[in-house]
Amino acid sequence: MSDMGARIIKNADFVRSGDIEEGIRAVFKGDIIGREIIFFESTTSTNDRAIEIGHQRESPEGIVVIADAQSHGKGRLGRNWISPPGVNLYFTVLLRPPFLPKEASILTLMAAVAVVSAIREDIGLNAGIKWPNDILINGKKAGGILLEMKSDMDRINLAALGIGVNVNMSLSLLTKDVRLLATSLKKESGRYIDRNKLLGEILAKLEYWYKIILKGDKRVLINEWLHLNSTIGNNVMVQIQDRVISGIAEGISDEGELIVRLSTGEHEIVSAGDVTILN
Ligand code: BTN
Repeated sequence: MSDMGARIIKNADFVRSGDIEEGIRAVFKGDIIGREIIFFESTTSTNDRAIEIGHQRESPEGIVVIADAQSHGKGRLGRNWISPPGVNLYFTVLLRPPFLPKEASILTLMAAVAVVSAIREDIGLNAGIKWPNDILINGKKAGGILLEMKSDMDRINLAALGIGVNVNMSLSLLTKDVRLLATSLKKESGRYIDRNKLLGEILAKLEYWYKIILKGDKRVLINEWLHLNSTIGNNVMVQIQDRVISGIAEGISDEGELIVRLSTGEHEIVSAGDVTILN
């Protein structure tokens, strides 16, 4: 798929109603998030493009890079993110928060809260969050978040918060294995979803929560994450690189780590891993 280059967003197929920027601004106008929106008909990965763009800009904070299709969409743990044109949301928000690198996972939690609450309010589906970043509906994955960072020891220079949501995609585009675990908003709701409107809602929620965490109110966001999550309180199995632990997911730390109580009664703090909910 060819890389069409950045464009100012006129007449994109992305939105049926015409200009994507107009469409988004009709539902949302942020002081920070979406100050500038850069649209690609097709690109490799919006995270990669956003990082390139971020390096070229003096103040990248709030720039949103959107693509209608990605040829090398990236998931967590080196996986691919299937990114066909015309159906889904693929976008990356550039941020430069005044946080330590170890505090960065709060951005992933923020994105999950924004996406799940937008899906609940805009579409009426009972979406939930599986730690750390899976957007689930009826136990199947409808979206995910990939945070990539450039940082020094004591500051984040650039955070690329990539968000993918399966909106109107037919599940037949997925491989058999993935199809068992994945879903789309159209499949779950039985109707066509306006991507532009949903994008506007997600950006508005990101703006709202980003301002809250910039004020230092991280716990408010974590409480909202807890309210929307489907992991805590369950028996879980967690794959951490080449080992697996199981126990009860008891909570998350202020740094967004998962706290698991093992059968020995000890607690293990997990900063990255794949969770399977057992009950
Ligand atoms: C996951 O759950 O594995 C994370 C998926 C993240 C996908 C999004 S799509 C937009 C952005 N660009 C990418 O290449 N990946 C993220």
